Formats: sequence, structure tokens, C-alpha cells
Amino acid sequence: MSGFQSPRGLRDLLEPLASAHGWAIDRAWAAADAAGYARIELPIAEESGLFERAVGGTSDIVAKELYRLEPRGDDAVSLALRPEATAGAVRAYIQHGMRSQPQPVRLVTVAHLFRYDRPQKGRYRQFTQFDLEAIGDGGPGIDLEVIELGAAYLRNLGLSDVQVHLNSVGCSACRPAYVESLRAYFTPAMHELSEVDQSRLTANPLRLLDSKDPAVIKRVADAPLITDHLCGDCAAHHAAVMAGLATIGVTVLAAPRLVRGLDYYTRTAWEYLLPGEQGQQGALGGGGRYDGLVELLGGPATPAIGFAIGIDRVVLALEERGLLPVRAVGATIVVAGIEPDSVADRVAIASQLRTAGSSARADVSSRKIGRQLESAVRDGARAVIIVEPDGRLTLRDLVKASQAEPAERSEVIAAALRLVQNEG
Ligand code: HAM
Repeated sequence: MSGFQSPRGLRDLLEPLASAHGWAIDRAWAAADAAGYARIELPIAEESGLFERAVGGTSDIVAKELYRLEPRGDDAVSLALRPEATAGAVRAYIQHGMRSQPQPVRLVTVAHLFRYDRPQKGRYRQFTQFDLEAIGDGGPGIDLEVIELGAAYLRNLGLSDVQVHLNSVGCSACRPAYVESLRAYFTPAMHELSEVDQSRLTANPLRLLDSKDPAVIKRVADAPLITDHLCGDCAAHHAAVMAGLATIGVTVLAAPRLVRGLDYYTRTAWEYLLPGEQGQQGALGGGGRYDGLVELLGGPATPAIGFAIGIDRVVLALEERGLLPVRAVGATIVVAGIEPDSVADRVAIASQLRTAGSSARADVSSRKIGRQLESAVRDGARAVIIVEPDGRLTLRDLVKASQAEPAERSEVIAAALRLVQNEG
């Protein structure tokens, strides 16, 4: 055995988790396809400056967690592994002139992401998101569409009690005054704050609402609320979103202290949580409006909204509830052979069965036929086709433990297909 291990926080996914991830991802694509979202595949690395500008230089995601790549000879700029997908999607929207398409432009991607965070349950250094963005519409209707799509996706996977915790984080007109009132509220208690929270108080007091320090959490309970400081437009937008969600039957909890760990949010911000789970670390997903981001990245002023759902956390939640889909691993039909030199034949027959739509594999060993049958049973196969020394085939039904007489190839292959397809 080599001494190598997978790096900390970067996991191997084995069965059944590997299949469960694939299943949750397939369902994500299907949910977005059904709602008319265009697929987009984005590069796994972007210019570091894109994330610094979009997500924010003081956010943990950029300040502490960005995987920066060592510059190589012909790289004119420094690159980083993407910690999230929204910045790349907006960069692509601008770069490819999507402004000239009908708005909003609806985009979906499934992205493997990297954050140099402290690994723990549900938090990994490489993880996968189902990310959905609608760029170019500022009205509350698109908020409803996007929020509902994420909730329905989770509900349809079996997480039927998912809740939407929703807030408005205001806009550039009303947030600065709120941030000042928050700063004024916390400043007298400055000496009680940890070093980290003291620098948050200076750089971005909103982050204090998210502090893990029990003393700060206690103070947050009486801190001023953004929802009391919204400008008229933000308040009207928020009210329309809350009312609309009630109308369409999405369970929403007003979360006036909810802030998100990325700087680009404006107005609507929300998280998908299961009852009993707290805050960002337990969230299945989160999203919000980012009405200033397209402009910040060099495009025309364009409102936008989106969410990302963490596939790893979805699979974890399904596993904890015993809802993990189990994909039977192993072929339905095994093609075995009496003579070792029938191996090429077995491989060809298995291929023919797969082309006809069945799952099949050859036993490529030179073991005795009894051993081959045993391993087919162990693998959960439904039937075995045995290649006889004279080239004819025998069909063995493993469930009934019955075996037909040797017969011509095409006849036996057809019978095997009928057997498994009748049950399929
Ligand atoms: P986020 O809240 O940073 O938002 O991440 C969204 C979700 O990704 C989280 O709720 C969680 O399920 C999952 N996630 C985040 N970090 C990790 C991790 N280290 N390990 C496992 N899962 C993780 C965003 O990324 C925004 N780009 C969402 C968005 C899209 N906003 C607008 N459009």
C-alpha cells in the first residue's frame, strides 16, 4: 500500500455516495431543464481578481479560503480555483453579450468548488453545488420563481420539510445607514469582542450577525434589524416576495438577522434549512439578489438573482434520514463460459446485450464454471448465460435456479433479454 491519502477535506466518494451524488445532480439538471434554464459549464479556475471583486476581499471565502494557483509562465494573471459559481456566471454573461438576449437570462450549472475551510461534517474543501442564476430582471416575480425552484427540488428529493429562511439585506441606498447603526450598537462592547469580531466591526459589521461567539450571539438578539431600516423600494420588494411565497405555498420563515457570507447580495437573501438546523453551516443551500454585481464586474447595471444548493449536504441529509437512493451495482446478466478460450466470445455477447438495452458483463476469468456462477449470484445478477464448448449458449435463471437446454445464440440472447426486460 502506498502512503498516500486523499488530501484533507478532499474526499473520495465511494458507493453508495457516489451514485447518490450523481442522482442528486441528474435531478438538479432535470429540475432546471424543466423550468427552461440554459445549461452553462464554467471553468474551474478564474482570475483571482474576479472573486476578490465579486465575493469581496474581506469575506472569509476570499480572505482565508481561496485556493490560489501559482502563476505559470504564460499566465498573465493570477488564477484561483473557484470557491463559488455566481462570479463566473456573471463574468460569462458579460463576456458573451447575453445582455442582447431576452431578459432574464436563465442559467444553470453544476459546479465543483474549492474552499480552504476547516473540514468537518457537511463542510469540505472540495464540494459540489447545483447553482441557478436568473440575470436581468429586478421584479419580485423572478424571486418567487427562483426560490420556489430550489425548494421544490429539495422537496422532490424527499426533504419535504425544507424551510426557506428569508431576509432582505437592503440596497446601496439603505444599507449604509443600517451598517452604521449596527456599528454604533456594537462599538460600546468592542472590548468584549474577539480579535476577529473587532476587525469585522471595522470592516463589515454585518458579519457580526453571523458570529459564532456566544457573547456576540447574545448581543445580536437586541441588535437593530435591517428590516426596520429598508428604503421604500426595498421594503416594497420584500413585502411582495413574502406575500408571493405565501400565495404559492412555500414555507417561509422571516429571518431578519440572516446575512450571507458573500458581499454581492442586495435585497432578497435566503437559505434552505431543515428544521432544527442553524445558520450557514447547516444550510442545504442559499441565495439572493445581486443587483449590483453585473455592473461591478464591468457590465451594464443589471439586476439578478440566484441560489446554490450544496449537493454534499443534500446527500448527507438524505443519508441521515435513510432516504439515500440505492442503485444496484453489478450487472443484471453475467456471461460466463466453460472453456477459458471463450473469453472473447463472452465479452462480445455482453456487449450485444448492453446494446440491446440490458445491463450485462462478462466473467473474464478462467475459473471453473461453478465459481463463475457463485460470483454472479454474489453480485446480485438475475441470469447467467453460459458459453458451451461447442459455442452454443445456456441460459440460467438465478432466481428460479433453473437452467434451460443449450441452444443457438440468437435464441438464448433473446430469451435472456425477455427474462430481464419483463421484470425491468
Ligand atoms: P453559499 O452560501 O456560500 O452561496 O453556498 C451555498 C451552499 O453551498 C451552502 O448552503 C452549502 O450547502 C454549500 N456549501 C458551501 N460551502 C461548502 C463546503 N465547504 N462544503 C460543503 N458544502 C458547502 C454561494 O456559493 C452563492 N454563490 C450562492 C448564490 C448563487 N447566490 C446567488 N446565486
